Amino acid sequence: MTNTNIFPEGFLWGAATSAPQSEGAQYADGRTASTWDVWYEKEPERFYNQVGPQHTSYVYERYPEDAQLMADMGLNSFRTSISWNRLLPDGQTLNQEAVAFYRDYFIQIKKNGVQPIINLFHFDMPWWLMEKGGWENRTSIEAFAFYARTAFEQFGDLVDTWTTFNEPIVHVQCGYLGNDHWPQVYDFKRAITVGYHTMLAHAAAVREFRSVMEDSGKEIGIILNLSPVYAKSDQSDDQKAKRYAEEWHIKSFLEPAVNGHYSPFLIETLKENNLLPKIEPEDAALLLQGKVDFLGVNYYQPLRVQAVDKEKVNIPAKSPADFSKAYDWPDKKMNPYRGWEIYPEGIYDIAMMIKNDYHNIPWYISENGMGVADEERFMDAEGIIQDDYRIEFIRDHLEQILKAIEAESSCYGYHLWTFVDCWSWLNAYKNRYGFYRLDLETGNRIPKKSSFWLHGIIEESKLDL
Ligand code: BG6
Repeated sequence: MTNTNIFPEGFLWGAATSAPQSEGAQYADGRTASTWDVWYEKEPERFYNQVGPQHTSYVYERYPEDAQLMADMGLNSFRTSISWNRLLPDGQTLNQEAVAFYRDYFIQIKKNGVQPIINLFHFDMPWWLMEKGGWENRTSIEAFAFYARTAFEQFGDLVDTWTTFNEPIVHVQCGYLGNDHWPQVYDFKRAITVGYHTMLAHAAAVREFRSVMEDSGKEIGIILNLSPVYAKSDQSDDQKAKRYAEEWHIKSFLEPAVNGHYSPFLIETLKENNLLPKIEPEDAALLLQGKVDFLGVNYYQPLRVQAVDKEKVNIPAKSPADFSKAYDWPDKKMNPYRGWEIYPEGIYDIAMMIKNDYHNIPWYISENGMGVADEERFMDAEGIIQDDYRIEFIRDHLEQILKAIEAESSCYGYHLWTFVDCWSWLNAYKNRYGFYRLDLETGNRIPKKSSFWLHGIIEESKLDL
C-alpha cells in the first residue's frame, strides 16, 4: 500500500450539496419552478413517500448555522449550486432577493474560513426553458451562457472556484433514456442531442467566464462522474464492450471538457448508427473554448461490463445497451444499506487515467459517499447516529487518494456527499448521506459520529494506515 499517510498542504476538506436539494423556500422571494417542482405537482406518487422538492434541508433560512457547523468540523471548502430559476425567474430578469440571499450565503461561508465552490446546473432545468424543449432546443445554449454570465458578474468577487455542470450524463440518461428525470422519454437520438447541447452550453459558459474574470486567477471546471469501467474478461468482445462503455459514459463529456473536442472514435460510432446530432459550422470553435482548469470527480461505484448478446443488438443502435451489457461481478462488496458496489480502488484507477490520458489536470473528489436507508436504526441513546460504516467507507477511499497522490496524481481534495442530509430527487430522504442528520420535523442538524471522526483527521492532516 501507500508509504505516506500525510495529506498535502492545502488539501481541500469539504462536503457537497446542490441548491434544489437543500435550499427549500420553493416559491419564496420570486423563485419560479424547475422541472422537479412541476413534476411533483403532476405525479407526487413517483417520489419516495410522496416527499417532494419543497421538503429540503431549509438552507435558505439556516445557512448561517451551517456555515458555523462547517467551521466547527474543520472543513475548508464546500460545494453547492445556484438555482437558475431563483436567480433569473423568467430567464431574463435578475431577482434581487436571490442576489441578496446568495451573496450573504457565500459571505457567511467565507467568514467561517470555508471556500465556496459554486456549480451552475445540478439537474434543475427551469420550467420556462423546459416548456421550450430544454436542452433539445439550441437556444438553451445561449440562455445558459446568459445565466452563467449573470452569476459570474453578481458573485465573482466572492467565489474563486466555479463549475458549470454536475454529472451531465445523468440528465441525459435519466431524462432521455429512462424515466428518472423529466421529460421521461426514451430516444437515443434525442439523448445525443441533449448531451451535445449541454457540452456546447458548458463551453459557452466557460467563454463567458474567461471574459468576465479575465486574468483574475479564478478557475472554472466541470463535475463528472468518471466511474471506471472494468470488463468481465480480457477477451476481445468484452474489451470492445469496455471501450464503448468508456466512450459513452466517460469520454463523451471528458474529452470536450479537457481537450475541447470529441474523440474521433465516438464521432465515427455515432455516424455509423445514424445518431449524429445537428452540428453547426461554429460549434467546433465554441467547444474549443470550453477547456476547463480543473475537474471535479464524483465517484460512488464502478461500471462493470461484458459483451452484448449479438442476436439482441439493434442496428442502428437504440441505446448504449446495444454496445455493452452490465456485468454482475461475483466478488463485489455491496453497500448493504443502499445497494451500490463499494470499490475504493476505483479512485486510484481514475487518478491514473487522469494522470496518463488527460495530462494530469488538477482534480478533486467532488462527491463520494455512502447512502443509508432507515439510518435512525443506528442512533444511540444520545441521538447520535453511530455511522461506523461511513467512517470505514471514507477511510478506505481516502487511503486510495493518498496512494494516488504518492503516485504523483494531481488530486487535491475530498468532498463527502453531503454535509446535512438532503432531499434526493425521486428518492427523497430514502438514503441519508450527511455528516449531520437532518431532523425532518424540526429541521435541526445533529452531528453523526463520522463528523467527529473526520474533524480529527483534518486536524492531524493524516490517516492511520
Ligand atoms: C449523486 C448526485 O450522483 O448521487 C446527487 O449528484 C444525489 O444529486 C446523489 O443526491 C445520491 O443519490 P441517491 O439516489 O442515493 O439519493
